[in-house]
Amino acid sequence: MPVSRRQFVSSLGLGGAGLLAAPAFPALAARGREAGPARWRPAAAAEAGLIRLDSNENPNGPGARALAALTGMLGEANRYPDAAEEVLVAAVARAHGVGAENVVLGAGSSEILRMCVEAFTGPQRALVTAAPTFEPPAEFAQLLGHPVVTVPVDAALRLDLDAMGARAAGAGLVFFCNPNNPTATVHGEAAVRAFLGQVRRTSPATTILVDEAYHEYVDDPAYRSAVPIAVEDPMVVVSRTFSKVFGMAGLRCGYAIAHRDTAATLQKWRLGSSVSVLALAAATATVEDRAHIEAEQRANREAKAFTRAFFEGAGYRVGPSDTNFLMIDLRRDPQPVRMACRANGIAVGRPFPPLTNWLRVSIGTLEEMRQATEVFRRVLA
Ligand SMILES: Cc1ncc(COP(=O)(O)O)c(C=O)c1O
Repeated sequence: MPVSRRQFVSSLGLGGAGLLAAPAFPALAARGREAGPARWRPAAAAEAGLIRLDSNENPNGPGARALAALTGMLGEANRYPDAAEEVLVAAVARAHGVGAENVVLGAGSSEILRMCVEAFTGPQRALVTAAPTFEPPAEFAQLLGHPVVTVPVDAALRLDLDAMGARAAGAGLVFFCNPNNPTATVHGEAAVRAFLGQVRRTSPATTILVDEAYHEYVDDPAYRSAVPIAVEDPMVVVSRTFSKVFGMAGLRCGYAIAHRDTAATLQKWRLGSSVSVLALAAATATVEDRAHIEAEQRANREAKAFTRAFFEGAGYRVGPSDTNFLMIDLRRDPQPVRMACRANGIAVGRPFPPLTNWLRVSIGTLEEMRQATEVFRRVLA
């Protein structure tokens, strides 16, 4: 049955009542977050009962609005996503107070990171990145044969912005992960502005990609998003994702905010129609859902404080965290601990060289963290 543009937009959640349009699978939509932990999972994807604290995912999954919009969209699965993209771009632009021309969508923010590496690095234009940080930008650059300059984090696990700025001269792109994964550290507004200013002065042709995947989890009052800077400054791009606080890692949706000219450059590197109509509908329904975002922030804060108290009570140093994960200094190789946790049904983060003694633990639900800390207690004893 043909669907008019109005019906279509309404099914995406922008039409008020359309948000709760009759879903194709009512039981799935009705389940939302309240109906308990039962989730459909392909058998191969996760062993029963495994507590997954290894990938900084959101244990609660998408919110009720996102699920309702997604299931309401199943009837559009035969259509290419162009119109649904327009609707999400408009919703993202409204959420940030920017123009549609400032927004570029991606299949997860990973696609944005890849586009930036392709667009801005080259055989003579290096990527400057940190160690450790989120690795895909360096991996993309290496795949393309473009040089990568790696700057270790400092003793406080913070990105060494002075050293990164000094190494940026002549580079094509600086990857600035704020907050940084896996160290969970964040830089405040003054430090971000000083860094951007330093790179601008010493290397005006270098683009800076500020990855704000964990933006919603930041508690540091000195922090501000770099979105307002990116809209004005053609050399700054901000990436965001629906994979973390919005609980949609498996749906694959993210975006960049950039100056209109920079956004136009990035669009050329995009795989057209890379985000499915289901992800677009869910993202549209959730991007401005303040109540859901705040509920997720509270849940993460509570479970994170519980987990931090456990490790500190056990005598371990825990790094500062403005994210949904913690770094714990085990003062020894974490690999045997990881394997023992895995054997006891708890998956924790992989090694992140050069931080050879640190363990990364993603924050699950409070109940998951209660169970996990019982295992940690036994394994670390
Ligand atoms: C810092 C950072 N950026 C980007 C991503 C990629 O997220 P996605 O492609 O799911 O948006 C992640 C995922 O863990 C991340 O930690």
